[in-house]
Amino acid sequence: MRINTILTPLMVEELYFAGKISVVIDVLRATSTIVTAFMNGAKEIVPVGSLDFSKIASASSFGGRTMRGGEKNTKKIEGFDLGNSPAEYSEEKVSGKSIVFFTTNGSKAIVKSKYSTNSYICSFLNIAGVAKNAVKKEGSLEIVCSGRNGDFSLEDTVCAGMLIKEIMKIEPEVELSDASLVALDLAEKYGDKLLDMFKISEHGKILLAAGFEDDLKYCAQLNITDVVPVFSNNTIKFLTPKKDTPNK
Ligand code: MLT
Repeated sequence: MRINTILTPLMVEELYFAGKISVVIDVLRATSTIVTAFMNGAKEIVPVGSLDFSKIASASSFGGRTMRGGEKNTKKIEGFDLGNSPAEYSEEKVSGKSIVFFTTNGSKAIVKSKYSTNSYICSFLNIAGVAKNAVKKEGSLEIVCSGRNGDFSLEDTVCAGMLIKEIMKIEPEVELSDASLVALDLAEKYGDKLLDMFKISEHGKILLAAGFEDDLKYCAQLNITDVVPVFSNNTIKFLTPKKDTPNK
């Protein structure tokens, strides 16, 4: 199996993913929030690449019965039901709900992977579960780091490296691209100090300044759930049954 890491979604076009298996990562905070929504019983999440499309999707596709969640400049968007803090996606709020989801980087990266055969949603919260689903004897895996505004981000690349480590525990015979080797090195360096790593990262500092320190602590937890969301046919659903939720 060959594992490639895409350090920012700007490096590839949508069609690059045709027929491939991919994993999308935006640990601060979109993919951590999506995983949490499913831990708390959300029915489905529809990621969108633009605010305009979030209005159309929530008003028409689901008969106006959806919630809207996400952020712009880390803040909840006017008219939305939920922001992008995992703490908002409690069982009381999201159980059984369809959620149209827009964020600055994460939802766009997920939408970009839409031609993949399967596109798994990964955060530190569910790395081991994603590894079990994504590992293959042959073929290739594309790990997409959502990054920030088209730039590389430390936290997503560390998560990519941790995922590669986890996959190699199951299938040691992997071929790694240069970007995957870099991700693996960063995982060695920061894997046992995720919260400290968040605090020195550009996006982590922005979230800290905006008062979201609790989100950093939450998103730095490793493997607290088996929930593996998968994006297919424009909708994210989850592969494993809902588990007890540690964040209630
Ligand atoms: C994003 O998609 O850019 C992030 O999830 C932003 C955030 O921290 O809310």
